[in-house]
Amino acid sequence: MKWKMIGDTGLKVSPLCMGVMTFGSDSDEDTSAKVYARCREAGINFFDCANVYAGGNSEMILGSLIKPERDKVIITSKMTFGPRDPAMGLQGYGSSRSQIMHHVEHSLQRLDSDHLDFYFLHHFDVNTAQEDSMRAMDDLVRAGKVRYPAISNFAAWQIMKAIGICQHHGWAKPRLLQPMYSLLKRQAESEIFPLAQSEKLGVITYSPLAGGVLTGKYGQKQFSEVDGRLKTSRPYQRRYADMRDYQVAATLGQIAQQQGVHPVTLAIAWIMANPAVTCPIIGARNLEQLQPALAALDFALSDELYKELSSLTPAPALATDREDERALHR
Ligand SMILES: NC(=O)c1ccc[n+]([C@@H]2O[C@H](COP(=O)([O-])OP(=O)(O)OC[C@H]3O[C@@H](n4cnc5c(N)ncnc54)[C@H](OP(=O)(O)O)[C@@H]3O)[C@@H](O)[C@H]2O)c1
Repeated sequence: MKWKMIGDTGLKVSPLCMGVMTFGSDSDEDTSAKVYARCREAGINFFDCANVYAGGNSEMILGSLIKPERDKVIITSKMTFGPRDPAMGLQGYGSSRSQIMHHVEHSLQRLDSDHLDFYFLHHFDVNTAQEDSMRAMDDLVRAGKVRYPAISNFAAWQIMKAIGICQHHGWAKPRLLQPMYSLLKRQAESEIFPLAQSEKLGVITYSPLAGGVLTGKYGQKQFSEVDGRLKTSRPYQRRYADMRDYQVAATLGQIAQQQGVHPVTLAIAWIMANPAVTCPIIGARNLEQLQPALAALDFALSDELYKELSSLTPAPALATDREDERALHR
């Protein structure tokens, strides 16, 4: 196993992080335990969770699984969306100091742990001053409840603003980012990845299979004809509504066949090869789905194949125009 460093924290993690969003929802407790055990067997020591996954059940299942070996694994949770928690009344959504303090206690209880390794602000909250959110995170670090603050789904300027605020006040700054990233969603390449490399931040990317689309199982068929998330989830149907997405998935399938591997292996190996990425967060509802994702750990992606896969979708526009001219003067 070639360990990866999370930015400049000195923390070493496996080159894949297991996302446990399916624990307690698509995967029952028994299947979740099997998936966890298989991940540990494969050397994975990194698990990504959130307070909202399966209404809090995901944290409870993960908590029971890590209990005998808490210090051997790195775990995350997130807040901003509350689970539908009547105790919060009107305050269900957001990253205010009150919400952060409320949700961290509940997450720690469900995880049966005295600390989180990384605690994510799940989304940018326009109603809360960033000073309030970052100060609350710093208090949690000082109290030993959170090892490192982390940020998901922020724009690059919002991340940089959060870092600037923390540096100005001497507060613990975010050390890990979590953007969406796959062959079908490459926006992170234009600003988030260069920012992470410049600031030495860890990056764990989510939805590497575009919610299942890159397995090729949807193809030209109607969602209703296939088993999977897109059958029922309107947000995921909207996210991958473009017919070109299904054509890319079909071409990926053909390349995978030529290579004698599963398209899932290729889609994940392509992300692992990006120097800005610490690890992709994989998702699977059972052991069968997990297998081709784990195979990416042993798949050697050549530069040529990396380029071929990258050419399946357009790279996003650069953050500024005339980058090409600047390159001439380097
Ligand atoms: N920060 C955020 O906002 C955010 C958002 C989303 C996810 N995440 C994190 O990222 C993790 C992974 O995200 P994701 O679940 O969206 O990843 P993904 O890799 O894009 O999708 C995984 C899903 O694809 C399908 N799939 C996987 N392997 C398959 C196979 N071999 N054959 C057929 N179908 C297969 C399964 O869903 P079906 O069986 O239902 O098709 C599986 O649940 C989550 O667990 C969570 O930790 C974070």
